[in-house]
Amino acid sequence: MSSGQVTIRNIKSLDDMRSCVALQKDVWNFSDAELVPLRMFVVAEKIGGQVIGGFHDEQLVAFAFAIPGYRNGRSYLHSHMLAVRDSFRNTGLGQRMKWFQREEALNRGIDLIEWTFDPLEIKNSYLNIEKLGAIARRYNVNQYGITASPLQGGLPTDRLVAEWWLNSERVLTLLEAGSRPRFTAAKSIQVPAKIYEWKAAPASRALAQEVQNRNRAEFEQAFRNGLAVMGYDRDSAGGGRFLLGSWHDSQEF
Ligand SMILES: CC(C)(COP(=O)(O)OP(=O)(O)OC[C@H]1O[C@@H](n2cnc3c(N)ncnc32)[C@H](O)[C@@H]1OP(=O)(O)O)[C@@H](O)C(=O)NCCC(=O)NCCS
Repeated sequence: MSSGQVTIRNIKSLDDMRSCVALQKDVWNFSDAELVPLRMFVVAEKIGGQVIGGFHDEQLVAFAFAIPGYRNGRSYLHSHMLAVRDSFRNTGLGQRMKWFQREEALNRGIDLIEWTFDPLEIKNSYLNIEKLGAIARRYNVNQYGITASPLQGGLPTDRLVAEWWLNSERVLTLLEAGSRPRFTAAKSIQVPAKIYEWKAAPASRALAQEVQNRNRAEFEQAFRNGLAVMGYDRDSAGGGRFLLGSWHDSQEF
């Protein structure tokens, strides 16, 4: 499937929101208690959040869902979910959905979108940091408790907070040049390609847990020292590496 055949638009109808709930169920395989219900989509759309759909032949194949946030005198959006149906993945649709979110936010005078992501997910980390230009300097330990999602493999739901400063030099450079500005990395944090395999099988889960524990300690220490995640490398084996730099000296965001 090609992302170009997908039309992206704001969602307002109950039927389209029902399709979001159904797609959410397919993508995360949550229990009913863990699903974001229809009524939250309805409320979010009415109070300044975002419910955005990607449609192929009028079938929903992707959605982005954000709720309004407020901190330190600033209104921002917290993007709670982005989902692309598996047959449409890796065609650039996830990125198109995020750039649409950015435009929609900027049109309303909002210049920050945040979301949290699992730092053990190599694809998502790469997408967030390298393709969108988000940065991260906060780490939440076991944010949602242990969930039924197979993506999580029974591990604590540790999350990095992505900050997407929509009009930062970093994001504008990415939009114009296709890559983020360069910086000098002071530290790197590794995620082995085998992490998915280790999470999936109960016998090897302890190995995944070791990586999570080690990386948690490294992120917490680095953030205390004023570093932020500003880059992400992938290796030829499919592993990933967070690159951290000093954001205090940086003009990038
Ligand atoms: C995360 C998700 C929304 C991304 O959507 P998508 O349409 O596949 O994303 P895109 O095609 O725009 O971009 C994916 C990028 O990751 C790269 N990628 C794909 N697999 C990868 C992997 N295993 N490791 C590293 N990078 C990978 C792709 O090559 C692409 O980069 P490129 O543009 O440089 O080629 C989709 O995978 C999804 O729905 N996942 C399940 C739900 C989820 O995790 N949501 C996000 C958290 S809420």
